[in-house]
Amino acid sequence: MTAHIEIQNVSKRYGSLTVLDGLSLTINANEFMVFLGPSGCGKSTLLRMIAGLESVDDGTISINGERIDNLPPGQRDIAMVFQSYALYPHMTVADNMAFGLRNIGLPAEVISARVAEAARMLEIGHLLERKPGQLSGGQRQRVAIGRAIVKEPKAFLFDEPLSNLDAALRVRTRVELAQLRNRVRSTMIFVTHDQIEAMTLADRIVVMNNRKIEQIGTPMEIYSRPASRFVATFVGSPTMNFLPVGLSGENGFARAKLPDGTDLQTAIRLEGINGSGHSLGIRAEAVKLANGTAATTTGKVEVIERLGDRTLLYTRLKEGSVVIAEDVGNSRIAIGDQVALALDGARTHLFNAEGRAWHNEGVGHG
Ligand SMILES: Nc1ncnc2c1ncn2[C@@H]1O[C@H](COP(=O)(O)OP(=O)(O)O)[C@@H](O)[C@H]1O
Ligand SMILES: [Mg+2]
Repeated sequence: MTAHIEIQNVSKRYGSLTVLDGLSLTINANEFMVFLGPSGCGKSTLLRMIAGLESVDDGTISINGERIDNLPPGQRDIAMVFQSYALYPHMTVADNMAFGLRNIGLPAEVISARVAEAARMLEIGHLLERKPGQLSGGQRQRVAIGRAIVKEPKAFLFDEPLSNLDAALRVRTRVELAQLRNRVRSTMIFVTHDQIEAMTLADRIVVMNNRKIEQIGTPMEIYSRPASRFVATFVGSPTMNFLPVGLSGENGFARAKLPDGTDLQTAIRLEGINGSGHSLGIRAEAVKLANGTAATTTGKVEVIERLGDRTLLYTRLKEGSVVIAEDVGNSRIAIGDQVALALDGARTHLFNAEGRAWHNEGVGHG
């Protein structure tokens, strides 16, 4: 069994504080959905409302067409994995995993078969007789996931399950989660503030900010066509460059005047664009050194970040704005160098004064 989850116009308030304001979204059966956003934006609250650990003030939540927002958590057929693991310290791993199943009175042989299968899947068979105190953080996390798997729920909810792990283990566990996901066909909702976890794990990402949903899309839709400056800033590293621009037209496509006076032809359709206070967004990967190609502008290099496979150059244009450019791994550039920059106008994004993106249909850019 798997869950198709429908969230309609859901709001949450704590006293006079509105935490979620009229959110609607659909999570498809077997989908791996990630809720991504900064700390405090309401991700855990939304997840806990789906699980039944928080009440819903307005709106409805349905699973496979049935309203569940008024059901107690135990009747929703959903399993939640917490950041803090929440294991019973005095019980063995096997008992921790079996506990919930014994509570609902499943036959002993069904329980032991499910525990054995989950242990095999998670490669924790050799740990079954240990207590949580005798496990590493990563092992505890697997036990917590195992305890969810044995319930064979319609949906799994994960609340920042990797954030207590050190950097190396985080990456390994992330890959294991992706593999697990291919073995356990079920709907999964995963909450994180880490854009790399979101990009690598999700079928679709819900970007949340400030009580609202900013954008819902596949990782590459979110990356290539961010709906707002917030999304463009939050997803992608380094963060997107933004320059205030004036606009003019040429063959139906916008021509942007950069703050230093240079012109850049974009692939953004001019039709329908109005108002003032536009900013042009361009990722560092679309700003290269102009070696032989026509330079757009020049900048002075202030900071150099060597990432091994590529080098980021923080350059200051002559009127003062900063543009991060990307160079090869073994860049010869030194701090203080004056460099000619080529900005790829076909890979630009335009945002209005409110930070919303102008949608430029049919133009491929990243
Ligand atoms: N029980 C509560 N009482 C009052 N405010 C709360 C409670 N739980 C969460 N909040 C507030 O709701 C907002 C969203 O919290 P949360 O959902 O935990 O955010 P996230 O998981 O995205 O970091 C925060 O401003 C938080 O302080
Ligand atoms: Mg949270």
